[in-house]
Amino acid sequence: MSKIRIEGNHKLNGEIYVSGAKNSAVALIPAAILCDEVVKISNVPNISDIDSLEEILTYLNAKIVRDKDTVTIDSSVIENKEIPEELSQKLRASYYFMASLLGKYKHVEMYFPGGCTIGERPIDQTLKAYRALGATVTMEDNRYIVDAKELIGTKIYLDMPSVGATINTMLASVKAKGKTIIENAAKEPEIVNVATFLNTMGAKIKGAGTNIITITGVDYLHKSFHEVIPDRIEAGTYVIIGSLLGEKLTIKNLIPSHIEALTSKLIEAGVNMEIGDDYITVSSSDNYKAVNIKTLPYPGFPTDLQQPIIPFLTKCHGTSTVEETIYENRFQNIYDTNRMGANIIVKNNKIAKIKGVTPLQGKNVTATDLRGGASMLICGLIANGITTIDNVKYILRGYDDICNKLSKVGAKIELI
Ligand code: EPU
Repeated sequence: MSKIRIEGNHKLNGEIYVSGAKNSAVALIPAAILCDEVVKISNVPNISDIDSLEEILTYLNAKIVRDKDTVTIDSSVIENKEIPEELSQKLRASYYFMASLLGKYKHVEMYFPGGCTIGERPIDQTLKAYRALGATVTMEDNRYIVDAKELIGTKIYLDMPSVGATINTMLASVKAKGKTIIENAAKEPEIVNVATFLNTMGAKIKGAGTNIITITGVDYLHKSFHEVIPDRIEAGTYVIIGSLLGEKLTIKNLIPSHIEALTSKLIEAGVNMEIGDDYITVSSSDNYKAVNIKTLPYPGFPTDLQQPIIPFLTKCHGTSTVEETIYENRFQNIYDTNRMGANIIVKNNKIAKIKGVTPLQGKNVTATDLRGGASMLICGLIANGITTIDNVKYILRGYDDICNKLSKVGAKIELI
């Protein structure tokens, strides 16, 4: 079992290059199987979630070639067979295959997806969309059989702007008959990235990035080349790290508008940063003040940066609050953060009150989930002494080459 070992409190200087977005790439790869020819996707991050998707593609007999950050997928001839539970359980994004296979073959058999245990994570909105498009959904335990004579476009109102349900509905309806309208759609940049990819293959999707998306079905999707957008959560994680330890740390290859909810909070707390077209340069200070944060769907403050910002808040003077509104169980990192010396009280798993400033002391800690793991890693970077993190498989699911990227700018961090 690998661990991450960190010697804390080293200043950081230089440049960190942001990889492609996990939450885009994990949807683009399953979307590729809708293509009737060959697709190439570049800027794909080297993370274990992509390895898991590769396993599923190979299982379906698609041809996949990975060359550095480019993935070529030929799924013109694949087998539409039931994806085994141990594969679908590996990650949340496995259910994008359910949608793509349904869109392509009008029939799919699959198990409930996996993903970090940060809350309930039901898929009712996705299933509602399949039914609205004309499919029948049969459920046996956690196995689903979705079948349709044909899929017919219709109006679908999502009860909440779910990223997964929005992408699944696009994938299932892109080859449906007629027009599908998704109302109360999620607006995350990853949704725009997926819609653009499908459009480059000849799909007719309008409105991605707004709360109404219109998909006019087409019969055939042709070859395409597409690029994954930069990972806004990875970028945000490094900007937070820079605001704690940067002398002059530049985070490159990011889209600043994608992380404005974060940068505006950091600026409110007193962080000094230069925001360029595709970079942010940030340096640390001892003079930050407490801020209040509430997680919301995009463009609000992302739930995926809620845990990574907690160590920053331990360095702010006064009491900060963090309200988590998306997931029921996203404060699992707080137990170890307090063991390291923080003063954080969590009420009803919903609101955390962080009293600062508290120095942190290195400890043996655990990554309870992907972003919780990133949070512990940041705690380790700012703590006195040595921190070791267990269960790092969670961190490696979503952060490309994280130890190397940080070592190169001066952190003492290694994967052991
Ligand atoms: N929800 C439902 N029913 C549904 C779908 C969602 O009740 O059918 C609820 C969920 O329980 C949750 C909320 O709606 O409380 C938001 O869920 P959403 O569908 O938007 O999330 P997701 O698609 O499962 C993606 C990312 C998450 C990220 C969220 C929100 C992927 C693979 N995952 O999840 O990323 O937190 O959107 O932005 O894209 C992460 O990267 O660490 C991560 C968890």
